Amino acid sequence: MKIEREDDYSRFISQIKMKTGVNLSLYKEAQMKRRLTTLYEKRGFSSFQEFFNGLDQDQALLDEFLDRMTINVSEFYRNKSRWDVLEHKILPRLFKDRGIPLRIWSAAASTGEEPYTIAMILSKFMPLDLIRILATDIDRHALQKAKAGIYSERSINEVPKEMKLKFFEKCSGGPFYRIADGIKKTVTFKQHNLLSDPYPKADLICCRNVLIYFTEEAKNQVYRNFSTALNHHGTLFVGSTEQIFHPSSFGLEVEDTFFYKKIEHQH
Ligand SMILES: C[S@@+](CC[C@H](N)C(=O)[O-])C[C@H]1O[C@@H](n2cnc3c(N)ncnc32)[C@H](O)[C@@H]1O
Repeated sequence: MKIEREDDYSRFISQIKMKTGVNLSLYKEAQMKRRLTTLYEKRGFSSFQEFFNGLDQDQALLDEFLDRMTINVSEFYRNKSRWDVLEHKILPRLFKDRGIPLRIWSAAASTGEEPYTIAMILSKFMPLDLIRILATDIDRHALQKAKAGIYSERSINEVPKEMKLKFFEKCSGGPFYRIADGIKKTVTFKQHNLLSDPYPKADLICCRNVLIYFTEEAKNQVYRNFSTALNHHGTLFVGSTEQIFHPSSFGLEVEDTFFYKKIEHQH
């Protein structure tokens, strides 16, 4: 029985890879299996094979699968103290070493809270039209929500008061807020798979709370890719459970907790 189940999942992995290009074998297996089993049982299937046949014929189910593969949860100013370090230490150093405008990439940006947080912080240093942020995610639905820029009252809780007043407007007829067009325009959203697409060059890469889903091997490959994608003096900002244990093996060094700077080679 056990072997059958394992085969069932391995076959599902190859079929999904062929159909969508998403390689589930690069995600932690136990966690992913649990998440997907819950989903297919809820939809009335009893094996991965049945589930695949279902989503092969039903675009809505396929979208739901892609949606649920990982969690989209995000927050403005998630782990506030790290954003203070970005503002007071990392950005001033990057401006000095790299100049303005900086090339900024928010990877696995989900529904946009993270790139918009970066834009609000940068607005303290420069006019909005000098800010350019690339924000990517594998999930098209998350990107659509990000582009819409509408957030619930609860999700903007952590936004500092002066930023709330400046950049959010209450929607009529509901507890929702719209982010200002000026902030929206600073961010370009694109679909991008960290496990298969080429990486854009950047001075600051912000990639938080996604690598926890990846296998060790996949994670290490992503760190190597980030290191190559960083320009000289560039910095990688990771999530608050995602400390890199041997940053030097990826050509990175600690700049502050959860910030890793590209190591400069002497010429
Ligand atoms: C928990 S959210 C993190 C959002 C935000 N970075 C934050 O920390 O608040 C994880 C995001 O990773 C995305 N994701 C999962 N696998 C990915 C991949 N291979 N490439 C790019 N994004 C991926 C998911 O779609 C999801 O939006």
